[in-house]
Amino acid sequence: AKEPVRVLVTGAAGQIGYALVPMIARGVMLGSDQPIILHMLDIEPATEALNGVKMELVDAAFPLLMDVVATTDAMVACKGVNIAVMVGGFPRKEGMERKDVMSKNVSIYKAQASALEKQAAPDCKVLVVANPANTNALILKEFAPSIPEKNITCLTRLDHNRALGQLSERLKIHVGQVKNVIIWGNHSSTQYPDVNHATVTPTNSEEKPVRSVVADDNWLNTEFITTVQQRGAAIIKARKLSSALSAASAACDHIRDWLHVIKDNGQLFRVRLKIDDFSREKMDATAKELVEEKTLAYSCLN
Ligand code: NAI
Repeated sequence: AKEPVRVLVTGAAGQIGYALVPMIARGVMLGSDQPIILHMLDIEPATEALNGVKMELVDAAFPLLMDVVATTDAMVACKGVNIAVMVGGFPRKEGMERKDVMSKNVSIYKAQASALEKQAAPDCKVLVVANPANTNALILKEFAPSIPEKNITCLTRLDHNRALGQLSERLKIHVGQVKNVIIWGNHSSTQYPDVNHATVTPTNSEEKPVRSVVADDNWLNTEFITTVQQRGAAIIKARKLSSALSAASAACDHIRDWLHVIKDNGQLFRVRLKIDDFSREKMDATAKELVEEKTLAYSCLN
């Protein structure tokens, strides 16, 4: 039998946590033959809720779940973890300044980076989900210098999956028939979903560029992009809560595909792509926002 893998989920008493931990315990993230030890971290006020989640995990009697560590102590939570999914964070509340939210998250990610730095397994892989995801990942990298930089990532897979979903709805084909969509930039409304390199393989036909199959550049360059950019807001409007099951599922996709690539090729690889003016402009805009976020985050460190 395989050795158990220790998977940390922070913010485990929250919405995404509630959708994510059963997926991990069922083998959706690491495969149906991989035993798991789940580490769940949340903050003191969520202690009871966190214990409730632990009770449900016990009640679900997952065959792969070897043990559950539920704690409000980051040092305990991070001990020996091989994979860390960072979902916990401080949400923006009505009337709060951007700087105040940033400042809260910078201090959370600084502290949790130190805990990972001291406690995590060597070669621990980190996925930051909590917003501002890209910038939280940057802070984590800064304060966990012994974790290889390439092991620290943030979640854009949800945006990617949303783009696949929109194309598949439009073309009335299955999502599995669409590939090579790219999301550039920040996980925010400036992100740029790029279909210029994407292809579809219609049933009983060969692979074709998405642009030629959709045959509506106007839709691809406007409505498609804004729908993907604003999908998170649309979910909040409909559900009165932000996306959780799709975020949890995307986190599993992210880790599963990442580990698979690493196993096959030793490391992530680079590809060379031609970028047109339309894309360049959209990429520059989201890059500018990331730089502003970075500046704001660093100003919170002092
Ligand atoms: P939630 O508010 O339901 O859960 C967050 C949990 O984190 C709460 O249980 C809270 O007590 C906990 N928490 C707060 N500070 C913590 C700390 N210092 N250490 C450990 N836990 C802490 O929120 P939800 O809906 O689960 O979303 C979580 C985060 O994921 C949010 O920041 C949200 O914006 C982000 N998100 C990111 C997506 C992406 O695609 N990157 C998609 C959807 C949500």
